[in-house]
Formats: sequence, C-alpha cells, structure tokens
Amino acid sequence: MHGRENTGEGRGRSPLGDPKTIIRVEHLRKVYRVGDEKVVALRDICLEVLQGQIVCVVGTSGSGKSTLLNQLAGLEKPTRGSVYIGKTNISKLSENQLALFRQRSLGFVFQSYNLMPTMTAAENVALPLIFKGVSRGRRHKAALKMLAAVGLKKRAYHKPTQMSGGQQQRVGIARAFVTKPKVIFADEPTGNLDTKTTIEIMKMMVRFARKYKETLIIVTHDPEIAEYADRVITLIDGEITDDKVHTPIYSGIEGEDAVPEDGTPQAEENSPPDGNTLEDGKQMPGEDRQGDKGLPIPEQDVPEQEGQSAASEETQSEGERTE
Ligand SMILES: Nc1ncnc2c1ncn2[C@@H]1O[C@H](COP(=O)(O)OP(=O)(O)O)[C@@H](O)[C@H]1O
Ligand SMILES: [Mg+2]
Repeated sequence: MHGRENTGEGRGRSPLGDPKTIIRVEHLRKVYRVGDEKVVALRDICLEVLQGQIVCVVGTSGSGKSTLLNQLAGLEKPTRGSVYIGKTNISKLSENQLALFRQRSLGFVFQSYNLMPTMTAAENVALPLIFKGVSRGRRHKAALKMLAAVGLKKRAYHKPTQMSGGQQQRVGIARAFVTKPKVIFADEPTGNLDTKTTIEIMKMMVRFARKYKETLIIVTHDPEIAEYADRVITLIDGEITDDKVHTPIYSGIEGEDAVPEDGTPQAEENSPPDGNTLEDGKQMPGEDRQGDKGLPIPEQDVPEQEGQSAASEETQSEGERTE
C-alpha cells in the first residue's frame, strides 16, 4: 500500500478533492542516526486523512508509530517528504513557526499526561489558551467548562499529584480540546490506565472529536483502542502494511453515558459535602493551596466577548478555525 495516497475510503482521493483532506503526507521518510548506525524509522509513507476522521495507527513496539505521529504533528522534521496540515506544509516551517502552528492548530494527549505539576487542573487546561491570546478571565471560565465536560468539575483546583491517572488524563484531554484544534494527536493515551478507565478515556475523546468535527490521530499498540476508530492503519518496520475503514464500536453521539460522575471515595473526601462547585474561583474549604506557584486564579471572570469562548460550542464560529 505504500507509495500511493489513501484516504481510508478505499478509493484514493476524496471525490471533492482537497477541502475534505486535513492531513496529507507525501513520501515521508525518517532516518535516525545513532553513532554510525542508521535507523530507518519510516520508509516511504504516503497518506491522506479526512477532516473529522478518527484514525488509529497500530503496530508493535518499534514499528514507527510515535515517529509517524511526531512528523505529522510537527514535533520532528522528516528526513525526506512533506506533511501538509490543511494548506500548510509544516515540513517547511521554521522551528518558531512550527511552535506557533502547534499551539494554534493542534492538540496533544500524551501517555504520561504531561501536566504541569505546580499548576491546578484548571490552570493546566487554561494554559493553551494563553497562546491564543484569550484573556485570563475567559481562560479560566473555558477551563472550568471543559473540566466539567470531562467530569472533573470538583477537581478544578487539584494538582496533578492529587489526582488518579484517569483523572489526570481527563485533564489532559480537556487541555487538548479546549482550543478546539482541528487535529488532535494522541500517543498511547491509555497506555498507563486500566481497562475501565481506558474505555472512559476513549469514549471521551471520540465524543469530543465527533461533536466538534475534529480529526483524531491515535497511536497505540493496543488493538482494543482501534475498535473506536473509523480507520485503522497498521505499521510494520516503518511501512504501512494495512489501511482499513473500520466501523467504530462507539458512535460518540448517543446519549449521555460517557461523562463519568466523579465519585471515587478518595475524591469525595476532598469534595464539598453539598456538591458545591468552585466556579467562582474561590478556595475550597480545607483545601491545601500552600506552595501553589502556578498561575493566579482570577477572582472573577471578565465578561465574555463574542466568539472568544474557547470552550463554548455555542459561540464557536467556523471562522475561528485556522484553515
Ligand atoms: N530519537 C531516536 N533516535 C534514534 N532512534 C529512534 C529515535 N526514535 C525512535 N527511534 C527508532 O525508530 C524506530 C521506531 O520507533 P518508534 O517510532 O518510537 O516506534 P513505536 O512508537 O512504534 O514503538 C525504533 O527502531 C526506534 O528505536
Ligand atoms: Mg511509541
């Protein structure tokens, strides 16, 4: 299959052409040099991903999954070939331009969550909005809304170490989706989680991606994860050996089943007994905020301006998305 473009529709390019293509990869090659050794991590990858597609890249350890994701997301430069996201050839961008592009147009979910340890959940989620020029008040409001959407309203002022792995990854998802990026990349997002939490996390990502018509690229060695994808790409030794359309086991649009109510016993201990939320940004009774060197939490939100509420689908206009 390598050497020819594929949209996962089983018939090459979309009949409508480029507008539906969000990622295009042309003859991508990546070689790492370690001393005198050459490791060909990706050989000659060509593929197209359509907007809104949920794609799983599967393969055994060392097959080149993370390398592919890193090239697609502009985290590393290809040795040869090009990656387009929308109309942008990201392989041609300088490091600074790339960093800006990533901040403005892409979202990331990591296996080890990569949360800022000194910051609260709300501060972590608000962080990507700084790069979009969103005011502090609106960042905070958007972060709280996003945390509520991942079922963590009561954990907004907890630090990562005060949360379980599954909760931390939900913060990671809230952070990835808060800017409504057009593409979200996830490298083994459930790699550190148990089966039940894995299902929660996968449903959550699928639900958000469907809701906002975002493209989701998930890299995993776990075949169970591929069950959630529209399309499954298999890598072996840096080559695409299989690329199939797949019917996902979860539509992401049905019912309200996927937001877990946060009721773990440990979590309840730190919660206000009457289920008070902390939307006004005040400290929770008994909550230890000592040593908090993170971003200050605004005492009150500034009035929201039109088209600026990053977590509000109601006010999200198409024009806000980078083409
Ligand atoms: N930074 C690097 N330097 C040298 N070799 C690397 C580097 N990153 C990955 N590789 C090699 O490239 C191949 C693919 O790695 P990777 O993309 O991490 O695989 P996967 O994510 O599928 O486990 C492996 O042989 C790996 O050892
Ligand atoms: Mg990997």
